[in-house]
Amino acid sequence: MKSIERTHTPIKGRHFISGSWIDSSSSTFPSTSPANHDDVIGNFPNGTPQLAEEAVAAARSAYPAWRRMSRIHRADLFDKLAQIIQRETDSLAILMAREAGKNVTECRAEVIEGLHMVQYVFGTGRMPVGDIIASEIAEKDAFVRRKPWGVVAVITPWNFPFAVPLWMLGPSLLEGNTAVFKPSEDTPGVGQRIVEIFIEAGFPVGTINLIHGDGVVGEALVRNPEVNVVLFTGSYDVGKRIQQISAEFPDRIVAAEMGSKSAVIVCDDARLDLAVSAGIISAFKTSGQRCVSAGRLLVAEKLVDAYVEKFIATAKKIRIGDPLDSTNFTGPVINEAAVEKVTRYNKLAREEGAEILLDGDRMTIGDHAKGCYMSPFVYRLKHGSKVRCLREEVFGPHLAIIPFATLDDAIRIYNDTDYGLSLGLITESYRTMRTVREECNFGMGYVNLPCIGAEVHLPFGGVKKSGNGHPSAAGLVEAVTHKIAWTVNHGTEIKMAQGLTAEV
Ligand code: UN1
Repeated sequence: MKSIERTHTPIKGRHFISGSWIDSSSSTFPSTSPANHDDVIGNFPNGTPQLAEEAVAAARSAYPAWRRMSRIHRADLFDKLAQIIQRETDSLAILMAREAGKNVTECRAEVIEGLHMVQYVFGTGRMPVGDIIASEIAEKDAFVRRKPWGVVAVITPWNFPFAVPLWMLGPSLLEGNTAVFKPSEDTPGVGQRIVEIFIEAGFPVGTINLIHGDGVVGEALVRNPEVNVVLFTGSYDVGKRIQQISAEFPDRIVAAEMGSKSAVIVCDDARLDLAVSAGIISAFKTSGQRCVSAGRLLVAEKLVDAYVEKFIATAKKIRIGDPLDSTNFTGPVINEAAVEKVTRYNKLAREEGAEILLDGDRMTIGDHAKGCYMSPFVYRLKHGSKVRCLREEVFGPHLAIIPFATLDDAIRIYNDTDYGLSLGLITESYRTMRTVREECNFGMGYVNLPCIGAEVHLPFGGVKKSGNGHPSAAGLVEAVTHKIAWTVNHGTEIKMAQGLTAEV
């Protein structure tokens, strides 16, 4: 795909509640492309707390019949969904490229990632829903069975507007929960398309509901006592608020996947070319806007000069431009607020003593002037625990190269942030691999690879401010179900475990 036609009709945004599209008369908000503000994706209604309540009520009333349906029949709907996604791969990728500003090749990979989740969910339909466990008493059988929680609120980000909702909706619905989905207000068009394909696949009325809007709607969902589980990916501040509100509800589960300050550690035995490619991909794919993007490259002192030279020469060649042109490496950042944030952190790095290696800034010439384009900002700086630009998440093409002396220093520096999401390690030493795996605090680790690019059948999540132990993707089944123990006596009299007397 070189350049793609931009002729399209703007989407008419609607909520979807209890099987009906709702044309809300309330206020609307536009979704425009971050690559070109003249490209209007559509106009979307702002949800209200009242509509959020209706959406939760719809999910609640669909729940009993849905959970009683055969698990295999629920799974069959995911097979249908997979076929629709395969048919729609290109159209979904193009819509996503326009709305999220990610290069169309990345968007295609994201659609495939969502497809893989749907295929995984379909496949697990026929897998066990629990275990049979031995009892101390010969006549007893003990079972562990997973059960759904009920209504799940799915609140998702703009940077993975297709795959992340499917990571969450897939396991939730397969296990028998029903859902209310609130996509990011930066990518409501992709969110609405997801719901359209669920409808086409035949998911029954009320099992999936859609509500557009901002934090007001999100908060109304989180405050609703009928919501059993909140699945959230986004910023730490919002995730923390969701957890605080949810503490009011006795059995509320929150699976929150939040920020990061991920890093690639380049050891002195690294293959230089591989290490440079891993650094570039980790820092600048998606313009540094993956949760797992590297904001830091920790490079062994012995290698750092050679590394910097090669890295900067490569970074200068990165093609930044139209997301619909597949020859570009990356596109714009998501919106004006992101431009402002990245610019602020670039300035902060300068104030904190960084040696600037690549002086990235807003790109304002030619077609770049129409969107939120930022070129890479790369600097070299010694680690310091109080240096904010080395600790705080920027979510853009802003990268620190931090030299380290020993492996112990690298581990200490890696761990010296409030986050712990992703880690790349470039080394030829199996001893180093093991030490880093055991001593660094992270959720996803990669050896001789970038720190991005997880596959859906693995758990995805982090520790510290990055997440709370209910990893997304395949790992989410733990958050959207609870386990019951079920013990059956096949004897004709009562015998108790632990030697407890059964005499009455
Ligand atoms: C995210 O960073 O928000 O691991 C999700 C990856 C992708 C998913 C990223 N599979 O890079």
